[in-house]
Amino acid sequence: MRRARLPLRVPTVLLLVAIAVVLSSCGWSLWDAPMTTVKPKSDFGKATQDLFMLISWWTLGIFIVVEGALVWACLRFREKPGQPIPKQVHGHTVLEVSWTIAFAVILLIIGIPTIQMIFKTQEPEAANALRVDVAGRQWWWEFTYPEYKFSTANELHIPAGRQVAFYLHAPDVIHSFWMPQLGGKRDVVPHRTNRITLTPDAPGEFPGQCAEYCGMSHANMRFRVIVHSKENFEQWVAEQRKPPAEPTDELGKKGQELFAQSACVGCHTIRGVSGGAMAPDLTHFGSRKTFGANLMMNTPENVAKWIENPTHMKPGALMPDLGMRGEQSKALAAYLTSLK
Ligand code: CUA
Repeated sequence: MRRARLPLRVPTVLLLVAIAVVLSSCGWSLWDAPMTTVKPKSDFGKATQDLFMLISWWTLGIFIVVEGALVWACLRFREKPGQPIPKQVHGHTVLEVSWTIAFAVILLIIGIPTIQMIFKTQEPEAANALRVDVAGRQWWWEFTYPEYKFSTANELHIPAGRQVAFYLHAPDVIHSFWMPQLGGKRDVVPHRTNRITLTPDAPGEFPGQCAEYCGMSHANMRFRVIVHSKENFEQWVAEQRKPPAEPTDELGKKGQELFAQSACVGCHTIRGVSGGAMAPDLTHFGSRKTFGANLMMNTPENVAKWIENPTHMKPGALMPDLGMRGEQSKALAAYLTSLK
């Protein structure tokens, strides 16, 4: 007897220690993590959260009732010497009909608001909504503003308090557009346009991520969402609509020449310079904080490294190594980062 009990204590203690470590290291901080979904910052996020909480409370209730009954039955009817078999309830019509009805009612309580919510998220957008066309590409995000006639990449700027209608499409494979704190996610599927509409509550900055495996750099297909006040958003739009800045220093000018003469122009647009549509629009590249789908800080050093070896920084990246090295990549980086 003693030999059987002693070793059991070790796994029990280890389990408790493991639970304590998990709870203290990430359990509570998940609440505040950048990718949290439990602190919604838009009407869409709040509606989803309410539905999630409704289902969670009912699930908790069912868990307590079922586990409570189980534990009670285990204790009440545990085998004791000389005790007869307890009264059997198998085939008890009243019991079986009542719990079937009870669970059907719970399913209705969960099902009706869920279906309502599905239709609500597909309602036509408001007349004054801001339309943003989102293209999920291997492995970056393109954001086009049809109202203002320009595109940007990997950094999504939207105003607070105004409904935004995202029209999602995929030129290559299936992706999934996900901004955890603002609500979502929604699949981005080739040959069809999915929609999602939401109104962000207040200015802030939120991370986004492709949430559907889409190839080698799926995990590197991130983006930033910058929610502006109305005034700041208008200012950002005005800046983005301007033609690209002209480089002022020698290195930048050399980079501009190199860009115009190289294969860069086949894939990238810089308004007034080139019109490629395969890769991010670089007209105001320098105004972005990060590049490579939110993978690297947008500094001349990082951009030069990227030009020299794109697939080293982002496995599978479709941008080819054009053989630019040393002074050439430095000049290109100086030019691109000057495009504020
Ligand atoms: Cu795009 Cu995963």
